[in-house]
Amino acid sequence: MSKVTVIGAGNVGATVANVLAHKDIVKEIVLVDIVGDLAKGKALDTWQQAPIDNYSTSLFGTSDYKDTAGSDIVVITAGIPRKPGMSRDDLISTNANIVTSVVKSVLEYSKNPIIIVVSNPLDVMTYAAFKASGLDRTRVFGMAGVLDTARYRAFLATELNVSPKDIQALLLGGHGDTMVPLPRYTTVSGIPVTELVNEDVLTAIVDRTKSGGGELVKLMGTSAWYAPGAAAAQMVEAIVKNENRIFPVCAHLTGEYGLNDIFVGVPVKLGKNGIENIIELQLNGDEMKLLHDSATAVKEVMDVFDKM
Ligand code: NAI
Ligand code: 2OP
Repeated sequence: MSKVTVIGAGNVGATVANVLAHKDIVKEIVLVDIVGDLAKGKALDTWQQAPIDNYSTSLFGTSDYKDTAGSDIVVITAGIPRKPGMSRDDLISTNANIVTSVVKSVLEYSKNPIIIVVSNPLDVMTYAAFKASGLDRTRVFGMAGVLDTARYRAFLATELNVSPKDIQALLLGGHGDTMVPLPRYTTVSGIPVTELVNEDVLTAIVDRTKSGGGELVKLMGTSAWYAPGAAAAQMVEAIVKNENRIFPVCAHLTGEYGLNDIFVGVPVKLGKNGIENIIELQLNGDEMKLLHDSATAVKEVMDVFDKM
């Protein structure tokens, strides 16, 4: 049974811990925040939910990294969230310093954990965590595609008035306005989505997906947490249960898709070792161009980080 540490006990981190506890698949979740009492309080609250919702996963909140010792998986949500009018990239310097220091503290007490980054700007924070960690690329990756694909699937479910369970989809690229939802790889219980939704509607859904995070920021004055938290918890589940699930994950590419030394969303197989392998789709020219455009946008922010 695994030990999972979630760094950052804010909206997303607390949701990761809460959703993961409900899955009842890990022995212990440690919630860490610089605001120690916040982590303690949210962990205690979720523990007090256990008798009601029937799970045994224990929860512990702290600001002391000693308590994270021996973690198998670490989810990093620490940072500041996006405010109205702020792009994800505006967050870069503050969150890069936070992510780098968090990774160093984690590795003092856990030798070879799998690290899932959630903090924004996601692709570059994953790069920052990878660089700070020195771990293999199979063990440091980012959550964005599971969330972005879920948004795309939810919009399609609403449009078609079908269960979101029956919508399968893939999405590539960075976690930003250049992300690349793939209608050619989208099906509704095996039926190509293009047979059910006309091109204009599909284009509108793809566009709404690309700005799906911003839509919620406008509505709530801060960024989303329920779907993001559930998305990260689903990735933890795939690893803990060695499910070999295929998810779009922000991964370090070393030549795949013609891209080198960049973190960007691609489909991977997620199992007990983290990224078991990266799947290279046979993209057509248009799809490949969109992916490369997205990678160019990510690379610009990676360069900002490299020069910091
Ligand atoms: P939040 O403000 O509710 O929580 C962040 C928490 O991090 C705060 O409790 C803060 O005290 C803590 N923190 C700050 N510095 C820390 C440090 N050095 N060590 C430990 N804890 C520290 O923010 P929220 O909404 O939970 O978002 C967290 C991050 O996740 C943001 O960067 C946000 O943009 C990102 N995000 C990413 C998504 C994705 O798809 N990858 C989706 C949604 C949010
Ligand atoms: C989201 O997509 C802001 O990255 C955050 O909700």
